[in-house]
Amino acid sequence: MTHRVAVLPGDGVGPEVIAEARRAVDALGLSVEWTELPWGSAYWHEHGRMMPPDALDTLEAHDALLMGAIGDPTVPDHVSLWGLVLEIRQRLDLWANVRPARLLDGVPCPLAGRSSADVDMLFVRENTEGEYSGIGGRAHRGLGGEVAIESSVFTHEGVERVIRYAFERAAGRRGVLTSATKSNASRYGYVLWDEVAADVAAEFPDVRYERVLVDALAARMVRNPESLDVVVASNLFGDILTDLAAVLQGGMGMAASANVAPGSGRTGLFEPVHGSAPDIAGRGIANPVGAIWSAVLMLEHLGEQSAAAALMTALEDVCRRGPRTHDLGGDAGTAEVGAAIVGRLG
Ligand code: NAI
Ligand code: MG
Repeated sequence: MTHRVAVLPGDGVGPEVIAEARRAVDALGLSVEWTELPWGSAYWHEHGRMMPPDALDTLEAHDALLMGAIGDPTVPDHVSLWGLVLEIRQRLDLWANVRPARLLDGVPCPLAGRSSADVDMLFVRENTEGEYSGIGGRAHRGLGGEVAIESSVFTHEGVERVIRYAFERAAGRRGVLTSATKSNASRYGYVLWDEVAADVAAEFPDVRYERVLVDALAARMVRNPESLDVVVASNLFGDILTDLAAVLQGGMGMAASANVAPGSGRTGLFEPVHGSAPDIAGRGIANPVGAIWSAVLMLEHLGEQSAAAALMTALEDVCRRGPRTHDLGGDAGTAEVGAAIVGRLG
C-alpha cells in the first residue's frame, strides 16, 4: 500500500528539520509518495496568501501532511498562522492536538535530579475552537477609543469529543486524566468544560480524573511532573503548557505533535511543536528530533506501527548515546543527528 504524504517544509528551520524527517521515513523502505508543497512566507510574498485557494482539496487527497514550521519576521505572525496552520486545523476539523512530553534517556532535563522516569506526559489539546476560534473584531482603528474583542467559543460537542479521546488515551496508559481549567475566574466556557469532563469521567471508572486550575498545573508540571499522565486542555492552555512541557523534555527541538480527528480517517497534520526559530535558521544546527518524532506519530497514523516503533527506537538510541545538537549540550549539526538516526535503524 502506497501512502500519499504531503510535505510542507515551510519557513526558517522548517526545511532543515523536515529534510531529516523525510530521510528517516525513506530509510524505512515503505512505499511513500511525497508531494512537496511550497507554501509559507515566501509564497505569501509572491502570491499575497500563505497557500493557494484549493489547498484544502490538495491536502484531502493525501493521507497525511508532514509540516516543518511557519513564520517569518517579514510576515505578521497572525497572518502566517491564520493563513495556514490554524486554517488547516479548523477546516480539516483536526480537533485533537496530541503532544507526547516524554524525557528520553540521555537528554538533559532542566529540573534538578529528574530523569526519564519522572517526565512522561501526554497532552491532548483541543485544536479547533476555544480561545483560538477566530471570533472577534476591532473598531475605531487607530483612534484613542480603539477596541478589540476576542471571544472564546466552547461548544458541548467540541469539548466532549476531545475530553473523551483524552480519557481513552489515559485508559491505555497509567490511568490518570488531568483536566486543565480556569473555571474560577472564567465563569462560562471553562465551567461548561468542567461539567462535560465530569460527565465523561463517569464513563471511565478506571481512570482517575482530576480537575486542576491551569496556573496551579503549570507549577505542578515543574514541581511534580511524575504525578501527571494525560493532560487535556483547551486550545490556549494546551499551547502554553506544551511549550513548558517541551522544555521539561529537553527543549523546543524535542517536542512532536499530531493534529488529528480520531476515528475519522481524515488527513492528519504532523509537525514539531517548535516554530521557525529565525534566531538559528540557516545554520544547520536545529535539533531534528521533534520533526522526526512527529514522523513517528505520522507512521502510527498511517497504520505502520512496526516502522514507527523501529524509528522511535533508533531516535531514542541516538538521544541516549549521541550525537546531539547544541540545545542538548552536544556539538552535532542537524544532518549529523538525522544521519545517525538512520544509521541506527535495525
Ligand atoms: P520557536 O519555537 O521558533 O523558537 C523558540 C526558541 O526555541 C528559540 O530560541 C529557538 O532557537 C529554539 N528552537 C526552536 N526550534 C528549535 C530546534 N529545532 N532546535 C533547537 N532550538 C530550537 O518560537 P518563536 O521564536 O516564538 O517563533 C518563531 C516563529 O515561528 C514566529 O513567526 C511564530 O509565529 C512561528 N511559530 C510557528 C509555529 C508553527 O508553525 N506551528 C509554532 C510556534 C511558532
Ligand atoms: Mg505554541
